[in-house]
Amino acid sequence: MATKVGIIGSGNVGSAIHRGFTKAGIESRVSNEQNVNEIAAGADVIVLAVPFGAIDNVVKQIGAVSNGKIVIDATNALTAEMQLAIGYNTSGAEELQKKLSKAKVVKAFNTIFAQHMETGKLNGQTLTAFAASDDEIARNKVLELLRAIGFDAVNAGPLQNARQLEALGYFNIQLGYMLGNGVTSGFKYIR
Ligand SMILES: NC(=O)c1ccc[n+]([C@@H]2O[C@H](COP(=O)([O-])OP(=O)(O)OC[C@H]3O[C@@H](n4cnc5c(N)ncnc54)[C@H](OP(=O)(O)O)[C@@H]3O)[C@@H](O)[C@H]2O)c1
Repeated sequence: MATKVGIIGSGNVGSAIHRGFTKAGIESRVSNEQNVNEIAAGADVIVLAVPFGAIDNVVKQIGAVSNGKIVIDATNALTAEMQLAIGYNTSGAEELQKKLSKAKVVKAFNTIFAQHMETGKLNGQTLTAFAASDDEIARNKVLELLRAIGFDAVNAGPLQNARQLEALGYFNIQLGYMLGNGVTSGFKYIR
């Protein structure tokens, strides 16, 4: 059966991922703040593309309808001052998995600037996208979805590795915004 993606959040990230999936021929719908539950209910794969501070509100809205489904956490766990909100002994994704204990949380997309999420490409090069999850089938499914958009998709192992991915996302922001490289930048994992 064809995968149906439901994206919560229609900002920079949500709209770019939506365009990427649509171009790849994958059915994708994006929420507004009124139809979060409906979009999540109609999807097999739910993408959270909302500010970190909105997660609890979204969790309340999607709660039961996310049971058994893949939930991709694309957020960066940042404070309003753009600092890492969570330290190195947990991660936003692991905390999300505790809140949505019957969903299969996969950390992905957070290490990439939204500008490149539609194609997975930057200046003719293929960017790397990581996926971390404790559910191997869910992780493999997300790796497949990332490849369909055009990324070099890399297995990042268990959800605990979201600690590293969230730190990498934070470092991406530091390099891009604070250290002057701009958003025309990204990571490529050579192996
Ligand atoms: N921008 C990047 O390059 C980038 C890269 C990697 C990861 N991220 C992460 O991805 C997430 C989204 O970033 P963004 O740049 O797309 O932010 P954004 O442009 O501000 O978009 C956020 C979206 O979330 C929606 N939203 C906020 N609260 C909500 C709620 N309670 N229920 C439903 N929808 C809600 C907003 O709707 P309204 O507009 O109606 O408020 C908006 O559509 C953040 O966690 C960010 O850290 C961003």
